[in-house]
Amino acid sequence: MGHVYVFDHPLIQHKLTYIREKSTGTKEFRELVEEVSALMAYEITREMPLQEVTVETPVQKAQCKVLAGKKLGLVPILRAGLGMVDGILRLIPAAKVGHIGLYRDPDTLEPVQYYAKMPSDIGERELIVIDPMLATGGSAAEAIQMIKDMGAKNIKLMCLIAAPEGVQRVQQAHDDVDIYVAAVDEKLDEKSYIVPGLGDAGDRLFGTR
Ligand code: URA
Repeated sequence: MGHVYVFDHPLIQHKLTYIREKSTGTKEFRELVEEVSALMAYEITREMPLQEVTVETPVQKAQCKVLAGKKLGLVPILRAGLGMVDGILRLIPAAKVGHIGLYRDPDTLEPVQYYAKMPSDIGERELIVIDPMLATGGSAAEAIQMIKDMGAKNIKLMCLIAAPEGVQRVQQAHDDVDIYVAAVDEKLDEKSYIVPGLGDAGDRLFGTR
């Protein structure tokens, strides 16, 4: 079973509170989502392996460390996932970015794929699927399945806020995927919005309605 990690760093929690607040406007909402995403990227990379290298400082040679191991790939789920990409890239600028487009069929309520473009070396990368809201878990589970079908082997899921229902669905469908969130909220409402949540993440990021 994959683990769920809740990032309780005070800066992440503080900023998430203002992201939730309904009077926070588009510009500030966007900035806060980027900042929290960067902080979450800092936490998610904590266990990354290092390797020793020798550098020459102006004083003498020194044994130092650089990142080793797999290269990263970010996979935002369109459209709200885009809001988290720049913040993560600020810390990991060399990461490649794939995109997954899904919409929910109004009749079946199941996710339907309309776009997928991944880095060619997807199988060798550590991939972070990104979606601010893990609500029913349908889109995230489908996106993870799509990239597995394209060869992805090493996958994490990063969201701002999860509902217990979404966590359960992803864990049941993909027991090899760890989930990283800033909060697990109470429940879903009858329209599958997270309660208390933050409303519609895509609309708040892009100023639509
Ligand atoms: N998507 C959102 O943007 N918000 C929710 O609460 C649930 C799904």
